[in-house]
Amino acid sequence: MPAAIVVGAQWGDEGKGKVVDVFSSEADYVVRYQGGANAGHTLKVEGRETILHLVPSGILHPKVSCLISSGVAMDVSALCDEIQALKKSGFLKYPHQLLLSDSATLLFDYHKQLDQAREQKAGHEKIGTTGKGIGPAYESRAERTALIFADLFESPEVLKNKLVRSSQEKFFLLENFYKQSPAPIEELLDKLLQLREILRPYRCQNTSLVIDQALKEGKKVLFEGAQGSLLDLVHGTYPYVTSSSTLAGGALTGAGLGPQNFNKILAIAKAYTTRVGFGSFPTECGETKEGQYLQKQGREFGATTGRKRRCGWLDLPALRYAIRLNGFTGLALMKLDVLSGLDEIKVCVSYKVGDKSVKEFPSLYSDLARACPEYKVFKGWTEDLSSLKKKEELPSQALEYVNFISQELNIPVDVISVGPSRKETIWINPIFS
Ligand code: GDP
Ligand code: IMO
Ligand code: MG
Repeated sequence: MPAAIVVGAQWGDEGKGKVVDVFSSEADYVVRYQGGANAGHTLKVEGRETILHLVPSGILHPKVSCLISSGVAMDVSALCDEIQALKKSGFLKYPHQLLLSDSATLLFDYHKQLDQAREQKAGHEKIGTTGKGIGPAYESRAERTALIFADLFESPEVLKNKLVRSSQEKFFLLENFYKQSPAPIEELLDKLLQLREILRPYRCQNTSLVIDQALKEGKKVLFEGAQGSLLDLVHGTYPYVTSSSTLAGGALTGAGLGPQNFNKILAIAKAYTTRVGFGSFPTECGETKEGQYLQKQGREFGATTGRKRRCGWLDLPALRYAIRLNGFTGLALMKLDVLSGLDEIKVCVSYKVGDKSVKEFPSLYSDLARACPEYKVFKGWTEDLSSLKKKEELPSQALEYVNFISQELNIPVDVISVGPSRKETIWINPIFS
């Protein structure tokens, strides 16, 4: 049963897109199972950059079928834009390359409007969401009024009735509490009747069944997480989190299959840490020389919103927590090249919380907010790593850094990434074993 999950082990933007693209050369299916267009996954192939939000990162490989499964919050309009942009760039030539679940949750403009209005009203207490409507769309699902992808193909009368029922409370909030004017439902209906023709060829109905059959036939299926473990709705740094289950377990519920299917759960982590949006970040370097270095060398700007990412040192208590939550079997250590040129590199090995030194990530946000990182300091290196192909070719200081992380976390390093392109990758263990 060759199924593997790729999950962000930090606060998102770890490089999941690159890893999924690289491993897609061996995959038959790539599945997105949670989140929505809040994700921004960057692929760099032959000098050309492609940023994907909803479409799985296997899409540049024509033989791969990419599935958007039931757990995804599907922004119909954003998805159509993405499909058209991919086609214009010469990708997505055949309908079998993209399969859309009939039961995925639909996300509309009024969900985005509500997300943005809430953030605006919250002032300095805001979460710093991407403004893509993720929270409100999953609320609609939880309150059981959301439309699902299959609803899009109902008669215009039935679709309109469902839209009215689904939107009425959110419209009431928008108009009366946030003093906003959502576009009339008739306008949304007209737009959807056009957009559904772009999406119709990709309608797959039962993606859970497709995945089950593929696994039974011995096909290779890669599950692509969005966001990161510390943004998980329940186990992340709540309330500064997203609204879906970003953990490996989310792949089971989001795609609709059982845990016996997975033999590889790959953690994706940068060799340092970044975060976009608000919330505690104990190892943040801020505007220090090192913080600016990481931001600049790492080109740390959000792929979805263009916001500057906050940068800091690697945080082992946070990674230890992510390993516990996900049951990771291996680690892909990303962006090691970015650290070249620093005199010293720090790694947080524990936190001081009050008068206690702790190795575990605090379960209470209030404890995390007062946690002070305790660092081990490594000597830096100056060499350019981007052309290296073997772990043993790393400069001794970089090798020491990587081995320390692996030993402290008790996890094998399966991949080391030394640049954004496919070929800037050091392979250690295969993803489909
Ligand atoms: P994702 O959301 O996890 O897919 O990550 P993003 O695409 O949002 O952000 C990762 C950024 O780092 C992208 O711009 C990638 O092209 C880039 N990237 C990925 N791996 C590496 C690497 O090893 N080195 C460098 N320098 N950049 C990388
Ligand atoms: P990828 O898949 C980094 C963050 C937002 C905010 C919080 C809630 O590219 O790694 P939301 O719009 O989801 O309600 O925002 O989550 N966030 C991400 N940060 N990478 C992402 O996705 C993110 N998706 C959401 O910045 O702090
Ligand atoms: Mg991203």
